[in-house]
Amino acid sequence: MQPENPLLTMIREVCALGRAEFTRPHTTEGDPDAQRALVQGLQAIDPGGEPSDIALSLELLAPRAPYFDQLVLDAIAAEVPQIVNLGAGYDDRALRFRHSGVTFFDLDLPDIITDKARRLETADTAHLTLAAVDFGSDDVAAILARAGHDAHRPTLFIAEHLALFLEPGDVERLFAALSSRAAPGSILAITAEVHPAEFDSDLVVSTVDDLMFGGAGPLHTILSRDAWLALFEKAGWRAEGTDEVTAVNHFELPISGRPAQIQTHFLTAKPARA
Ligand SMILES: C[S@@+](CC[C@H](N)C(=O)[O-])C[C@H]1O[C@@H](n2cnc3c(N)ncnc32)[C@H](O)[C@@H]1O
Repeated sequence: MQPENPLLTMIREVCALGRAEFTRPHTTEGDPDAQRALVQGLQAIDPGGEPSDIALSLELLAPRAPYFDQLVLDAIAAEVPQIVNLGAGYDDRALRFRHSGVTFFDLDLPDIITDKARRLETADTAHLTLAAVDFGSDDVAAILARAGHDAHRPTLFIAEHLALFLEPGDVERLFAALSSRAAPGSILAITAEVHPAEFDSDLVVSTVDDLMFGGAGPLHTILSRDAWLALFEKAGWRAEGTDEVTAVNHFELPISGRPAQIQTHFLTAKPARA
């Protein structure tokens, strides 16, 4: 296996460290201190070897944390019995939102799952299954089945700040695998990086890579909003509330000399066949 891109390592840690800075809800059975406990000893290091200033990321994280927290709380209130967190990293939601009758599945790369399991050694995790996966090569449907996920019961699938790190073909394969495990009542909720429709997606990704990361960046999927909606449809999902755009600005850069605002869109979808 190739060594991980150090920027991905840093961003994963910044996400978890940043989320620990916010006051967030929790269930009565949940642990309000879970995020702080999970990140203990973590220090996001930038590729130059310096500690990353997480304050810079709090603005980006501020809308994301409550959005996904509320989705989990809504799913619990609607008696959805399974929550699958894709690319969970050091996300604490399985502990913060512990609730009788709800099973959580946290999926991430093998090294992260091993480290998360170590960090959770003394926590009550009877309701949580950690599953190692590489979305670039593994059969996610089979991994979920092996992990005990029940394809006949509804699931909330969340992918916060994951899709942009995968190749477009792997995103589509992942969404199709999830749709094969999505009983009626399931929801898929993601953050999706979106560029203005007039630009070509490959050119956007390669320009971002060159200008922002000197050709060594970890970002691979940035699409127009319509292309995201089409990708959902192709993979067996129907996007919801498409008339209303929920988005925040992520970063701006020139593409072929023209300014382009890249946004993070919050998208949810239901199984198309339900
Ligand atoms: C930016 S982090 C976000 C983590 C978490 N969702 C959060 O918001 O704190 C992206 C996560 O996706 C995971 N990831 C990236 N590529 C992956 C792959 N090919 N297979 C499995 N997980 C992957 C990373 O390991 C990382 O934990």
